[in-house]
Amino acid sequence: MALESRERLIVALDVPSAAKAETMVTQLGDSVRFYKIGYQLAFAGGLPFAKELIAAGKQVFLDLKLHDIGNTVAKGVESVAQLGATFLTVHAYPQTMKAAIEGRRGSKLRILAVTVLTSYDDADLAAAGYEMDVKELASARAAQARDIGIDGLVCSAEEVTALRDIAGAGMVLVTPGIRPAGGDAGDQKRIVTPARAIKAGADYLVVGRPVVETADPRSAADAIVAEIDAAI
Ligand code: C5P
Repeated sequence: MALESRERLIVALDVPSAAKAETMVTQLGDSVRFYKIGYQLAFAGGLPFAKELIAAGKQVFLDLKLHDIGNTVAKGVESVAQLGATFLTVHAYPQTMKAAIEGRRGSKLRILAVTVLTSYDDADLAAAGYEMDVKELASARAAQARDIGIDGLVCSAEEVTALRDIAGAGMVLVTPGIRPAGGDAGDQKRIVTPARAIKAGADYLVVGRPVVETADPRSAADAIVAEIDAAI
């Protein structure tokens, strides 16, 4: 079933407390239906807050990038599934991905794999002991994720076309690094507009500062949804 434009926008609640997150969610109202909670908020009351959001009818993406021994990952994912979250990230190691799929069984939680962190370049991979470059490792891990039954991948808009070829139509591609035309890039080096990301084949866009750090977050979110709508 085709997604509505508004369901494709995921706002990153990169704020230091649940109180600040609540203020932002109230301000955004019906304009935003999907929120991402990462390390910063998760470790500052973000998990009980995620439950409140879900109870209020919002969807939640827990960006926790899990990676541990299989048994620990599977049990952790079971707990996340009980929260009622929609998406959870894990690092794309085969054992971790298999454990995550086992842990989410019977729930509506979908597992997204992070292939290679976007802050890593070829030299970082070599320093970590890998013999592949970023492109090779990202492609290899995307293929493993697909074969293991992972539900989707987090990737930059520039990777969407190449990864879609590997992932096929069945996996969702979730894309951060989005900046509306004319916006401030912040620390994102490779940025793409909402329209370009959607045209490239992204299913969901993750947007943080261009929404939460503006004077009028609701208008900013509505403008992004309008841009997605025009691009579909
Ligand atoms: O504020 P901004 O729109 O740059 O926020 C993007 C969000 O997506 C942040 O929460 C960031 O951690 C996350 N992210 C990213 N790049 C990735 C993976 C996640 O920017 N490769």
